[in-house]
Amino acid sequence: RLGDDPSRPSYHVTPPANWLNDPNGLIHWNGRYHLFYQYNPAGPFHNTIHWGHAVSDDLVHWEDRPVALTPSPDGPDRDGCWSGCAVDNDGVPTVLYTGGRDKRQLPCIATAADDDLTTWDKDADNPIIEELPTEPEVLRTEDWEGEFRDHCVWREDGTWYQLIGAGIEGGGGAALLYESSDLRDWEYQGPILAGDRDTAGTVWECPELLDFGDRQLLHISNYEDVVYFLGTYDDGEFDVDRRDKLDHGDFYAPQSMWTDDGRILTWGWLPEARDVSGQWDAGWSGAMSLPRELSLADDGGLCQRPAPELTELRGENTGYDVVRLDPGDTEQLPVESRSFELRATVRLEDAEAVELSVLESPDGEERTPIRYSYESEIAVDRSASSIDPQATGDTQSMRVQPYDAPLSLRVFVDGSVVEVFANERHCLTSRVYPTREDATGISLSADGGRATIASLDIWELDSVW
Ligand code: FRU
Repeated sequence: RLGDDPSRPSYHVTPPANWLNDPNGLIHWNGRYHLFYQYNPAGPFHNTIHWGHAVSDDLVHWEDRPVALTPSPDGPDRDGCWSGCAVDNDGVPTVLYTGGRDKRQLPCIATAADDDLTTWDKDADNPIIEELPTEPEVLRTEDWEGEFRDHCVWREDGTWYQLIGAGIEGGGGAALLYESSDLRDWEYQGPILAGDRDTAGTVWECPELLDFGDRQLLHISNYEDVVYFLGTYDDGEFDVDRRDKLDHGDFYAPQSMWTDDGRILTWGWLPEARDVSGQWDAGWSGAMSLPRELSLADDGGLCQRPAPELTELRGENTGYDVVRLDPGDTEQLPVESRSFELRATVRLEDAEAVELSVLESPDGEERTPIRYSYESEIAVDRSASSIDPQATGDTQSMRVQPYDAPLSLRVFVDGSVVEVFANERHCLTSRVYPTREDATGISLSADGGRATIASLDIWELDSVW
C-alpha cells in the first residue's frame, strides 16, 4: 500500500494505489465482509475498470485482496467491469455488473469460484440483457448507445428483481425494473420512478432500493449528487413523500449491505477535490466513506449515523464537560492530529455562528472551518484549506434543524477527508488537502454572541489496515 502521504486516509478504505470509485458487491459471506470497488490498477485515473477487493472481519479493519474482476479482452466487459451488486443465490455468491464494450453497456453475471470470493467465473452467455428497453426509450448520447447501467438485485417470494439505472430520451433519469426466476433471464417491467431532468438529472446511476419495513428508500446518483426518495414502494411503483440529498458534499454512488442483526450499512465513494495532476502526483485517487447506518426516525425522516463498530478505532481521548465561548474568543484545543473523531453538542445561545476549525496551522494560513450558523446551516469553508492551487477551494453547505435546539455534531477527519454528521441525520463530506506539516490544530470560536459547547470529546483514531 502507498503510504507516507499526509493526505492519504488511514481509517477510510482506499485502494492500495491508483484509482477507486464506486463501492460494489457488498456481501457478508463465510463469516467475512467483502467490499469490492471500481478500480483501475494501471494508474490514478478512470480507465478500463476492474473490481478491487477488500475484506474485513469486523467492518472496521480491512485487508487488501487481489483484483476480483478483470475485463476480458474478448468479452462484453472488454472496456470495463462497471458497477454492480452481489447476491446469495441459494449458496452461490453471484455478482451482476455492467460490462462496457464499444458504445454499449451490457449487464453481465459471474459466480464465485471459491469461498474467499477471490476468483469469479463469468457466464459464457454474457451479456444477460442485450436489448435496451424501448418503453420509454433509453437515452442515447454521443458516447453511448444507451445510458443503461448499474444493478441493485433482491429476492422476494422466490422471484428476483433488479433495478438498472438509465436516462430517458427527452426525459430525465430513471430506475428501471426487471424480473427473473433465475438471475439470467430477465423480463423488463418499466420504471419504478423517473425523474424530471431539471430537478433530478438526465441519467440515474447506481439506483438502490432499501426496505425499512413499512417504508422504502430509493437513492440514485445523478452525476452531481446522491438524491434519495423516501416513501412507499409497491408492485413496481414508488410513491415519494420526501426527498433530499444523502450527503451534501463529496460523496457519490453509494451501496449498502444488511448486517446479520438487521441493520443497513452504506458506503459511498469520496471523490477527490484536487485536480488531475494532483491525483497523478499522489499516485492514488478516491476513498470510501465510513460505513453509515441508515434507519428511519419516528417522524419518518432518514437517520444516518456512523456505524457503531467504528468506536473500536478510538485511541487517546481528550474530553471537556463544557467549553463556553464569548464573542471573539478563540479556544485552541490541545490536539494535533490529521486522523481523529470529534463529538460535541453545540448550543448557539445568542451567537450568530460557531466555528470549529480543523487542520489548522498555528498562523491560520491553512485551516478548514466548519461553521454552524443561526440560519441553521452547516458550511465547510475550503477557501483556506490548502495553499496548493491544485485543491478545490469552494464552500459546501447543508441545512440542519432549527438553531434553538442544540446541534449534535460528529466530525471525522482523516488525511484529506472531513466527514460531518449532524443530528444523526444530515451528512456533509469534504475533501481537503493541507500542505503544511503543522496544519493539524483544532480551534473553536463564536461570532456575534456567546455559545456553549458541551460534552466535547476528541479521539485519535487508529489505522484500519
Ligand atoms: C458511477 C459510475 C457508474 C458506473 C461506474 C463506472 O460513479 O459512473 O454508473 O457503473 O461508475 O466506473
